[in-house]
Amino acid sequence: MGAEILTVENVGFRYGGTPVLRGISLRVDAASTVAVTGANGSGKSTLLHLLAGVEAPAEGSVRRRAGCRLALLPQRTSGIDALPLTVAECVRIGRFRPRRRLDRGDRIAVGAIMERLDLAHLARRRLRELSGGQRQRALVAQALVQVADVYVLDEPTVALDAANRRHVHDLLAERVRAGAAVVIAGHDAADAALADRTVRLAGIQGCTGTDASGQH
Ligand SMILES: Nc1ncnc2c1ncn2[C@@H]1O[C@H](COP(=O)(O)OP(=O)(O)OP(=O)(O)O)[C@@H](O)[C@H]1O
Ligand SMILES: [Mg+2]
Repeated sequence: MGAEILTVENVGFRYGGTPVLRGISLRVDAASTVAVTGANGSGKSTLLHLLAGVEAPAEGSVRRRAGCRLALLPQRTSGIDALPLTVAECVRIGRFRPRRRLDRGDRIAVGAIMERLDLAHLARRRLRELSGGQRQRALVAQALVQVADVYVLDEPTVALDAANRRHVHDLLAERVRAGAAVVIAGHDAADAALADRTVRLAGIQGCTGTDASGQH
């Protein structure tokens, strides 16, 4: 079995008739991090939705390794505020499986990630009553508490202070050392510094890819 978890070949995407992505190819390997960068509106979130299967490409293909478990943190999560969820409930959702109760291992994982992201003291607070950064941490925790082969994260650290950014980066590095892949979209140089490979989107003109050594 190859190391590829996700393989994107010559992908194009349009919203209605408007092209957003064209000719995108990339490979996401196990135990590696890919950063997706580019200006506002360059198509980062759209590409992540294609990787996660939320959207289907108009051209080309997105292949996920058979049985691949994917955890997605979307950029837009305002819908979740309509639910009267507490922080602990929000994080627990990351461990839900059909027809199975959460077990001791799940509870330990939920407790551990809440400690790491400084959420334990907020466990019983409602999501919609939190500050922007606190809420973002709860949603990052929901994504990272999942057992996944690939974590697809759209601007996970955007609202976070320096200490919490570091906590998220440490958690991501641990997941990669354990063999998972991470795809992270953002503008944060520290996100890009984590990456083995960077995909820079430049509107529909195309994208450039570099690996961590700066080679194309
Ligand atoms: N649901 C939609 N319907 C129509 N156009 C959309 C939709 N979502 C995004 N777009 C357009 O597609 C383009 C790419 O949007 P996308 O959200 O992927 O960009 P982005 O790189 O993630 O930007 P940002 O840095 O602001 O998050 C933009 O021009 C945007 O206006
Ligand atoms: Mg975006």
